[in-house]
Amino acid sequence: MKQTLLTVLSNRPLTKSVYEMKLRGDMSAFSRPGQFLNIRLDGFYLRRPISVCCIEGDELTILYKTVGHGTEAMSAYGPGKQLDALTGLGNGYDTEKSGDRPLLIGGGVGIPPLYGLAKALIAEGRHAAAVLGFNTADEIFYENEFRALGATVTVATADGSAGVKGFVTDALPDDYSYFYTCGPEPMLKAVYRASKTSGQFSFEERMGCGFGACMGCSCRTVTGYKRICREGPVLEKEEILWEK
Ligand SMILES: Cc1cc2nc3c(=O)[nH]c(=O)nc-3n(C[C@H](O)[C@H](O)[C@H](O)COP(=O)(O)OP(=O)(O)OC[C@H]3O[C@@H](n4cnc5c(N)ncnc54)[C@H](O)[C@@H]3O)c2cc1C
Ligand code: FES
Repeated sequence: MKQTLLTVLSNRPLTKSVYEMKLRGDMSAFSRPGQFLNIRLDGFYLRRPISVCCIEGDELTILYKTVGHGTEAMSAYGPGKQLDALTGLGNGYDTEKSGDRPLLIGGGVGIPPLYGLAKALIAEGRHAAAVLGFNTADEIFYENEFRALGATVTVATADGSAGVKGFVTDALPDDYSYFYTCGPEPMLKAVYRASKTSGQFSFEERMGCGFGACMGCSCRTVTGYKRICREGPVLEKEEILWEK
């Protein structure tokens, strides 16, 4: 973990409530896709955790949804704004287990970390397929960006306004070697039940401190409680014990 200042390069809306922010700074603490940073926002006590979407050199892209006062404040930040961030947080996804045909399953703002993962898997010579779930057609983002990487993309919308009508679990292909997923907990539980292979789940739980001190993010596993911010956010399918 590293505390550093990141400079906003751009910040633009992709949909009514999802923004893409590009930041420049020291990225040396990040080593894997699926890690996150914890950003201090002016006037807020708790930092806000946001997944790395992708990193190129000293540039970082994050995608975030405005859900409350903190992310609303972020959406107003313009180029040149400096953000105090804890970087290199979390374990991230392990790409070595993917096999040849990994499947990436994302829902809403669970999709951003899967973009950097797709990029890494494709760079390693894997054929990545992605199933991206949204509520409606006007909430779709990054479909073309995944395609541009060379991933096979299927979109699902809950109301059927684009792609497959239904949830991501209604659009899963039959043939894949391993899976990686991130999204809201009901989606993760459905993927857990529907999946036919091993895989890795990334949790975007509410957090307190964000670096292992408060136990505010703990999750039950077969080897005891794990802190999502320290031992996660990525957990293996076989270790998860879902709370009712
Ligand atoms: C490891 C990790 C990675 C994350 N990555 C992303 C990302 O890439 N993009 C993104 O948009 N969001 C991501 N989140 C969620 C993001 O941190 C929260 O949406 C944000 O902190 C909300 O801040 P706020 O001040 O706007 O909302 P608040 O005012 O704190 O809350 C507003 C509403 O959002 C709900 N909320 C707050 N945090 C969460 C959460 N973690 N999960 C579900 N509901 C929440 C609250 O219950 C409340 O209803 C991630 C969270 C974690 C833990
Ligand atoms: S948020 Fe404090 S231990 Fe994870």
